[in-house]
Parts: sequence; structure tokens; C-alpha cells
Amino acid sequence: MSSRATAVAPANIAFIKYWGAHDVERGVPMNPSVSMTLSRCVSICTVEAHPREDGRSGVAPHGEDCDGVGDEILLAGPDGNRPAPEFFACRIRDHLDRLRKLFDAAVTFRVATKNSFPAGAGLASSASGFAALTLAAVRALGLDLATDELSVLARRSGSGSAARSVLGGFVELPGGPDEGDVYARPLAGAADWDLRDVIAVVASEPKSVSSREGHRRVVSSPYYRERLALLPGRLATVRDAIERRDFHLLGPVVEEEGIDLHLVAMSAIPPIFYWLPGTLQVLETVRMLRLEGIEAYSTMDAGPNVHVICRPSEEASVVDRLGQLESVREVICDGVGPGPRFSEDHLL
Ligand code: DP6
Repeated sequence: MSSRATAVAPANIAFIKYWGAHDVERGVPMNPSVSMTLSRCVSICTVEAHPREDGRSGVAPHGEDCDGVGDEILLAGPDGNRPAPEFFACRIRDHLDRLRKLFDAAVTFRVATKNSFPAGAGLASSASGFAALTLAAVRALGLDLATDELSVLARRSGSGSAARSVLGGFVELPGGPDEGDVYARPLAGAADWDLRDVIAVVASEPKSVSSREGHRRVVSSPYYRERLALLPGRLATVRDAIERRDFHLLGPVVEEEGIDLHLVAMSAIPPIFYWLPGTLQVLETVRMLRLEGIEAYSTMDAGPNVHVICRPSEEASVVDRLGQLESVREVICDGVGPGPRFSEDHLL
């Protein structure tokens, strides 16, 4: 009998960045990372599992002939579902193949997915997308797994940050090389500390260099070792700040990390430039806001858009100022959220 499940999983914003990998394909990071799970920026994914008539679970090996197994991958939109672009469908089928093999499931899948925010623009759409896909597929297979296991499975999609999106609140993902330890751990719940993320979208096109390629390339930066040496201190500060809800302690480290990610990207061989003129305008505006007494800190993932982290009391001022910038196309108001959930509003 066919079964169906829909998961809603949020994006997350990293305070300490996963950047550089032991194993890019399995999403095993070089260093531990810490993030805040968001609330409104979500991916919604419905998975149907249909028994295969031939009863076979065997499928093409990972990475090969990913369109040979009959899975149907759709993008849900206002005018209904349409086939997903091939590069996107291929990554999803790869992950479905992985799950099918792991659980020896003689099924084909139908998938429909959508985001509440621009995909591929450094707003962690892979994190929310692969977390939602993993949760929905596992449930459609009738399995009930622990969160640690779900986090590992989401990470094996190749989107390491997806491992963090299976939990709400403030989350830490250890680094490798020991793959078995690399699953998300909670640092604090969403209800423990209300922080906001005001996202200044300066570009909504997909980025030119994927995070995967970024992980491969940044280790060539002469500053990469320097970054790794600084991380234990930053991690200790961020953990401490979250435990004590100390925004004054947290903010400067978050901003340093956002800049560092791009510093090692720009100095990689060959270099990667994600920043646009609008990125610099937003960074400057956030520094100005602080001079005016509005405590807010910026950070960026692998893209040009800027996440401005602040407390609820400062959110309106931050939104107002960022919204006035000519380079800002859209301001998205988000904040810490409780993590993924299942839904009965199916996309299929
Ligand atoms: C730069 O391997 O998770 O966002 O699959 O594109 O989400 P995607 O990439 P992933 O690496 C992204 C890492 C980062 C920083 C971070 O989120 O820690």
C-alpha cells in the first residue's frame, strides 16, 4: 500500500560556520558549527512511497544514473506541481536512493517540495529542503527514528547544515572526521531565548558557486588554518553566550564568523566572491545602527544576502533601516523557531 507524509522543516542561520569538509559528499564538516533554527523560512516536502511492482529495492549506485529509478520530483507552485529542474531532481533522487538502500525499501517515491523563501541564494534552502525531504521520506517508509539518526541521514544528503535543521532552537553540530559523532545536539530551546533574524535580500538568484564547491575550495586559502585555530575560542564564547543569553557576548563573534567565511572564500584558489555591492551597503548600515545604539550584528552564509541578528526590541528599527536601502530587494523577518513538524496539508 502507498503511504504519504509531509514535513515542514526550517532553514537555519549559522553563528559558527561549517566551512570546509572532511567528506563533502557525506556532509562531514572540518569543524563544529552552531546555528539558530529559523521559524518562517521553511521548506515543505510531501513524499509518497509506492511499492515497486517487481519488489526490488536495488537501484543505481549513488551518483550514477540518478534518473533511472522512476522517482518523480516535482516543484510545488501557485499554479500546481511541475517537474523539478534536472540538477535539482538529481540531488533529491540521490538522497532517496540512499534511504531506499539503507532501509532495503522496495518502493518508488513521488516528491513535491516548495520553499517559503528564495532558493539557492545563501538562505540555507538545502538545509531546510533536505531536512524536510529526509523527515517526510522516513515517515512515508513507516519508520520511526530517533532525532540523532534523522540528523545523520539529513547530513548524508551532502548538505551538512541540514543535520542542524532537524532540531529547533540553538543547535551544535560537531566536526569530523569521525562520522558517527556528527549529528545535531541542542544547546538551548527556541523558548529559551527570543532572537530575531532580519534578512536583507540583495539578490535572489542562485549563487554562482555551490556550498559544496566552497567546502572543497576554501581549505586552499592560506588563512584557512588561521581560521581553524581561532574557532575553539569562538565556539566557547558562542556556547557560553547562548547558555547565559548574553547578546553582547554573542554578537561580535557572529559578525566575525560571517566575515571570516568570506575571507577564506575570497582567498581560496581559485577565489570565490559571493559579496555584491549591496552586501557591503548592508554591513555598513549595521555598523551605523550600532553606533546609534541599536545593537544588531550581521552574518552571511555562502551567498550575498545578510542576516542581521538582533533582539525583539530592536527588530522594527533594523527592518525600517534595511528596508530603506536601495540595494535591498526584500526584507524577511524571521527568528528562532521550534524546529520541524509534520503537516496534513499535503502537496500531492
Ligand atoms: C556556508 O554543505 O550545508 O551555510 O547544502 O548549500 O546548505 P548547502 O551547504 P552545506 O554548507 C553550507 C554551510 C554554510 C555555513 C553553515 O551553515 O554552517
